[in-house]
Amino acid sequence: MCGITGYVGDRPAVKTAIKNLKRLEYRGYDSSGVAYSSATGIEVRKSQGKIANLESLIGAETDLSTVAISHTRWATHGRPNEVNAHPHKDCSGKIAVVHNGIVENYAILRQQLKIKGHEFISDTDTEVISHLIEDKLPASDQITAKEFLLATRQALKELSGSFAVGIISDYIPNAVFVARKDSPLVIGLGEGENFIASDIPAVMAFTRRVIVMEDGDCAYIERNSVDVFNLDGERLDRNVLDVTWDDISAEKGGFDHFMLKEIFEEPRTVRDTLRGHILENNRVELPEVKFTTEQWNHIRRITIVGCGTAFHAGLVGKRLLEQLIRRPVEAIVASEFRYSDPIVDDETLVILISQSGETADTLAAMREARKKGAHTLGIVNVVGSTLSREADAILYTQAGPEIGVASTKAYLAQLVALSLLAIYLSQDHLLTEFDRNKMITALKQLPEQIEEILGGCSHIEDLARRLSSHSCFFFLGRSYDYAASMEAALKLKEISYIHAEAYAAGEMKHGPLALVEPGVSIIGLCTQPATNEKMISNLKEVKAREGTITTVIRKGDEVPDCADEVIEIPITEDALMPVLAMVPLQLLSYYFARERGCSIDQPRNLAKSVTVE
Ligand code: F6R
Repeated sequence: MCGITGYVGDRPAVKTAIKNLKRLEYRGYDSSGVAYSSATGIEVRKSQGKIANLESLIGAETDLSTVAISHTRWATHGRPNEVNAHPHKDCSGKIAVVHNGIVENYAILRQQLKIKGHEFISDTDTEVISHLIEDKLPASDQITAKEFLLATRQALKELSGSFAVGIISDYIPNAVFVARKDSPLVIGLGEGENFIASDIPAVMAFTRRVIVMEDGDCAYIERNSVDVFNLDGERLDRNVLDVTWDDISAEKGGFDHFMLKEIFEEPRTVRDTLRGHILENNRVELPEVKFTTEQWNHIRRITIVGCGTAFHAGLVGKRLLEQLIRRPVEAIVASEFRYSDPIVDDETLVILISQSGETADTLAAMREARKKGAHTLGIVNVVGSTLSREADAILYTQAGPEIGVASTKAYLAQLVALSLLAIYLSQDHLLTEFDRNKMITALKQLPEQIEEILGGCSHIEDLARRLSSHSCFFFLGRSYDYAASMEAALKLKEISYIHAEAYAAGEMKHGPLALVEPGVSIIGLCTQPATNEKMISNLKEVKAREGTITTVIRKGDEVPDCADEVIEIPITEDALMPVLAMVPLQLLSYYFARERGCSIDQPRNLAKSVTVE
């Protein structure tokens, strides 16, 4: 997830594009860059780190420029350094491209272009776009704008994956060209000036008249005109939207908090994490993991390590991996792993899960595992993080930057990545084609099912209001539901400061039941057909002690008669139910904390990245 902006008009184009870019810093801040027209051709300025670093490179010499595109990067391919920062030029230096998305076939395109003599400077997928356009141009010194636009459309047609691109070129000196497929892009309309950006808030300081581009749209934008067409060059009519929101919530994309915004990004997160990993025949491909059959046959056991939410994802992963590969899998918190003299050796695969890739305990665990000869595999969100650099193999989650301290979309991405891994490791062994197809179909349906849950968020908001007087919560479940309960309880306690505990439902009568009395709230996860009967008996035991019971059940399943409140979620494979169950439970925590007036995005005493042991 990156952010792009652009400008064409009479204001200083570079400074205007960068001013708007700062509204997109939530989309990534590994590096940033700008390309602009000058008397001598296209100039580029880039810098590692936050946009402020780029700003310090921009002087009055850029003020005369009337066309610019800029980019803030969340690395997906290649380290977060200056060379990999956008914009990326072609060999001639006459074309500059900024890109948000992932070019899935970049490796093959790059190879083909190299054979034709193109020279690449960066490790990014994006750089193939500028070279591919260059490659499609007629061999002539006099390229017209029409020829350039044709070449650009042809190049974009060859990309698979997702893109929102902004392109400037010496061949179209007073214009910006844009296109989108599966990544957002809007055009802001001004008087004698126009803007582009990844989202509406980024242009709101200058205009409230916006065209939201649709998939497959391209546009040729000059200061006084915007022509929208498709990749075949056919003209399209697009409505102009008048934006009425206030500016204050703009950075959060119109949401009150980053946490809520990030929960609403979960359908995209799941789609992006799956993207490029499922082949047409429903086999899973994980090119980054590079595990030979010989190496895999040598592995006797797996240990999953992480902290907090990442550890909870590991608890789901443990069950799923054991179910599919039938080898022993253990999940352990990173701070315990290192000092427990862990039994790991060269027959062990240690999976380290981390959103940030910088959590000190997880890094220490990885180093300990490596010292003992284990194979290490990181499931990481941040490209270029320490974990991604030091682990033997990496599987990236594609959650994009997570700003809210309470992890939400990263957890879902971790579950999806673990599912892909489990299928990958079992598809040539115990997993039948029939079961693989079932899992893959279910994985592909998840984004729409999450959208359906999000569509019903007002029900959860009302529920949070009704439960807001409760000050003690138990989250109960069995098997996968127990693992999901752990994460649901953590979400509630960390942002609302309410005491919340997760228990394996069968454990309640071995002690914790003594705590149940009127006013205690029980959230019972009942999404596992194999254990539901027993689960409901456990809930009845609680009901008899006058606790208030909210059940999370699959749509169509009978509502347990002990339930005071019900949350219904769509049905998927049992192993994937935690993905869907967590969405309403994250929302419940969010609305509950909001009822209590808590500092949701920055809960007391906590930090996003815990870099001390
Ligand atoms: C809870 C939360 C933390 C993190 C934990 C690990 O909402 O965010 O429990 O999951 O600190 O962080 P990463 O995944 O960055 O290693």
